[in-house]
Amino acid sequence: MSGDRPDIDDVIRARRTNMFVDRERTLDDVVIHELCELATWAPNHKRTWPWRFASVTGAGRSRLGRVVSNAMAAHGDDPNKVAKALTKYERTPNILIVGSIVGDTDDRTAENRDAVAAACQNLMLAATARGIATYWGSCPRGSHDAVAGFAGFDPGTHIVGIFYMGHEAETMETPARPAPLIARISD
Ligand SMILES: Cc1cc2nc3c(=O)[nH]c(=O)nc-3n(C[C@H](O)[C@H](O)[C@H](O)COP(=O)(O)O)c2cc1C
Repeated sequence: MSGDRPDIDDVIRARRTNMFVDRERTLDDVVIHELCELATWAPNHKRTWPWRFASVTGAGRSRLGRVVSNAMAAHGDDPNKVAKALTKYERTPNILIVGSIVGDTDDRTAENRDAVAAACQNLMLAATARGIATYWGSCPRGSHDAVAGFAGFDPGTHIVGIFYMGHEAETMETPARPAPLIARISD
């Protein structure tokens, strides 16, 4: 255990979707590796190790924007959204593409995605504890194959998230959260 890190309960509550980052400081590759390694400690059924990661920095971000924008246009998406996609990945110095591989049955494929979502939460919590902001973005409709190809993932890999990341410049306000709904079932 690292003694100098905040309490896990505090980290869970402190994690916020946040794109306010220092745009001039790219996260070190060692840090990206550390966060991805922590992500892989998530549970995964049948030990399929379904997560795939691609770290995108520098001019790679505008190349990703072009790939997504072209796929969206081919899919008939709203031209305003298509134009926005061209530059949107340049808003943070780091982008992390996270994919989930196809399983040998539909159920396994679904479970792989569940496992990768758990891995994403690991990654975001570890980032929060290090003062790194994360923002989970969805892969735009019709762009999964193009983004998987760009990332070098196997065909069919589902893009679970395209994460905007960087050194946190501003913390986000924490709004109240609805209480959990818990059914109590006993004998
Ligand atoms: C699967 C998934 C996809 C998401 N996609 C987007 C997205 O495309 N755009 C966005 O603004 N936020 C996206 N989010 C982030 C949510 O909007 C965010 O978690 C929510 O507003 C709650 O805020 P919090 O993360 O600070 O608790 C996504 C979150 C998840 C879990």
